[in-house]
Amino acid sequence: MALGESSDLILGIESSCDETAAAVVRAGRTVCSNVVASQIALHAHYGGVVPELASREHLRNIVPVMREAIRDSGFSLNDLGAVAVTEGPGLAGALLVGITFAKSLAYGLGVPLIGVNHLEGHIHAVLMEARQSAEQPMELPLLALVVSGGHTHLYLAEQHGNERQDQSTWRYRNVGRTVDDAAGEAYDKVAKLLGLGYPGGPWMDALARHGNPRAVPFTFGEIKTRAPRPGIPVGKKARTEPTHGPTFDFSFSGIKTAVLRYVEANGMKPSIETRRAALAALPSPTIADGVALCDAQTLDLIASFQHAVVGNLLRQSFRAAEAFGAHGIVVSGGVAANRELRERFQIEADRRAIPVAFPSLALSTDNAAMIAAAAWPKFLNAEFADDSLIATPQLRLG
Ligand code: KG4
Ligand code: ZN
Repeated sequence: MALGESSDLILGIESSCDETAAAVVRAGRTVCSNVVASQIALHAHYGGVVPELASREHLRNIVPVMREAIRDSGFSLNDLGAVAVTEGPGLAGALLVGITFAKSLAYGLGVPLIGVNHLEGHIHAVLMEARQSAEQPMELPLLALVVSGGHTHLYLAEQHGNERQDQSTWRYRNVGRTVDDAAGEAYDKVAKLLGLGYPGGPWMDALARHGNPRAVPFTFGEIKTRAPRPGIPVGKKARTEPTHGPTFDFSFSGIKTAVLRYVEANGMKPSIETRRAALAALPSPTIADGVALCDAQTLDLIASFQHAVVGNLLRQSFRAAEAFGAHGIVVSGGVAANRELRERFQIEADRRAIPVAFPSLALSTDNAAMIAAAAWPKFLNAEFADDSLIATPQLRLG
């Protein structure tokens, strides 16, 4: 590779939760490599992520994962233009592993270090793939739903400050958030309650196809707290004012309790324990095993839960898009892999003639290509981090 030719290569590093990931992305649009070492098997035993185990596993994986990403890309470390790393939000110890490693690597290679917000990364997974497609770019502002195991947020996303679109700074305004559990967390907790595998989302998604989504009428109440006022430009401090109307916030702890009540009222506990034990006895239980071990009532319950959760995500997203005048909707994060969610968002988007975009399944869940993609405009604007970059577990976006 000739000198200067490869300076648009960014190595992304992601270690905010239970995936150790590294990827090389060229100019914020071409994924040259994308390696993810998942810790699912390690945490499955506990039914959730154990922070201490996650940090230890990141330490073990970070060097081999980075080496594999460089090898797969066909480039060498010396070809890199920058190293980008997730600075938050996430688990403190887990973030620290990625940040310490990225700092040392950038310093050793003499290239800039770029700190990236994990949530911005999820949004850029969609933007990067949209850029790759031949279709017209979506008009701004966009309404972004980031929906995962740790987050359920709505952002109004816009670009500022440069005629070159890829060089413009992205600004985000948080217009909705969960007031309790994230949607993915609700999926995981309900799956655990029903004796299914971890993480629960993919299990529930597959099992829901076998049940009746209208069997159990779950409902979501309106959340009437303080809402940001529509019409405030993105980037300005979002003022809030008391409102008596509904907000664009979410709440998923109620439906989790409603599932528990349904299970108790219908005497489903013994069959759940039988299923839990049967799956635990299998060396590597599959979703097909899960289907075989669920009766019709359980499948109906799962389908109804999913129908209600997706319906709520859809309603809040489209309402917010309309209220804030968004010209497109992007959906990202682990729950964006959900089949019913994709289908219903697409149908509603077609009905309202507003474009909607999702990442490919591989880029829906945590990965480092999205971190390298989000770093690209920062790279062009020389928004570099220095030695003082630290892990920020509660880092906010917008
Ligand atoms: O983005 P992600 O990999 O990690 C976080 O940042 O949280 O998302 C993981 C979450 C888990 O809660 C998982 O159950 C959920 O995404 N998930 C799904 C599906 N695939 C993953 N939820 C519903 N349907 C799916 N197909
Ligand atoms: Zn994530």
